[in-house]
Amino acid sequence: MKFKLEYTDNASDARAGTITTAHGEIKTPIFMPVGTCGAVKGVHFSELREQVKAQIILGNTYHLYLRPGLDILRKAGGLHGFNGWERPILTDSGGFQVFSLTGIRKLKEEGCTFQSHIDGSRHIFTPENVMDTERIIGADIMMAFDECAPGEADFEYAKKSMQMTHRWLDRCLKRFNETEPLYGYEQTLMPIVQGCKYPELRRESAKFIADKGADANAIGGLAVGEPTEIMYEMIEVVNEILPKDKPRYLMGVGTPQNILEAIERGVDMFDCVMPTRNGRNAMLFTYEGTMNMKNKKWEDDFSPIDPDGCDVDRIYTKAYLHHLFKAQELLAMQIASIHNLAFYLRLVTDAREHIIKGDFTQWKNSVIYNLGLRR
Ligand code: GUN
Repeated sequence: MKFKLEYTDNASDARAGTITTAHGEIKTPIFMPVGTCGAVKGVHFSELREQVKAQIILGNTYHLYLRPGLDILRKAGGLHGFNGWERPILTDSGGFQVFSLTGIRKLKEEGCTFQSHIDGSRHIFTPENVMDTERIIGADIMMAFDECAPGEADFEYAKKSMQMTHRWLDRCLKRFNETEPLYGYEQTLMPIVQGCKYPELRRESAKFIADKGADANAIGGLAVGEPTEIMYEMIEVVNEILPKDKPRYLMGVGTPQNILEAIERGVDMFDCVMPTRNGRNAMLFTYEGTMNMKNKKWEDDFSPIDPDGCDVDRIYTKAYLHHLFKAQELLAMQIASIHNLAFYLRLVTDAREHIIKGDFTQWKNSVIYNLGLRR
């Protein structure tokens, strides 16, 4: 994987660049739609390509390992072969999903034992077997196995957890370097900075991660219940240390506002379930803030969802989408998911254009102001 940093904003740390993977290029800043089980919920790949203009999607090691399982994935030639998505894929390591299984998981130095949320069967994830699994899934970018500590973790817990994540990273790197890609194209391992809400730990973690010299680096353990201002402060602390010539990925974030604030602080890659999950609950994201399509006020609004948006935005009216949600038609969730993902991709594409044009901060401030209008 290669990264070319093409533009750096004069007034902020915002940047624009191009990542090149075996499955194609990614223009940054970028938002990556979440396809947990190998599918972006409710959205065809043709829609993802043509309307959403997704350049890369996410898969989840935890879910794919449990179902369809490694035998099927290997026989299919990896996730690309299985689901037919031809553009880049990134896999999260399970370091987040496994830790959200509170009550049915146990953490040790060796790894994390857990019970499947599907059938209760027992499993263990270790840094080594997660690398093997991510090799089998065959994602272009494989995330390291980490512990995402809870937002309310005290300093001592956060420190121990971060140190274990660092030891796990060394084990991930060792296994990664000892093994070959299975399908003939290059894969990249991306390490993850942890350290909760403690600047001292975040600095230590960022230094440890930066020293590994990976092709790209991630910031984890944020948007897990800490105040937004703390999240922004942690991004600043970490990005002062992470190399400028490598992409930086802020995991699991966030609202359109969060994404713009993080781009301003030098982040290049994002993922979040919000556009699809909230879309399925009738919430639409727009440049004027959010809209609840179940609200009666849309009942007789026959204007397009968004005249400047993607195909579904121009074809369907607000009144029709309101009706579909009221009637619990599947199409309602599909339209809302496509709209929201297309909006998120438009947001990062517009951000990139303004970084290149040189007026990013001014543009960002006006967008943030407008995003608050409908609240
Ligand atoms: N997704 C959101 N946050 C995290 C994190 O800290 N670690 C991992 N592996 N995935 C995440």
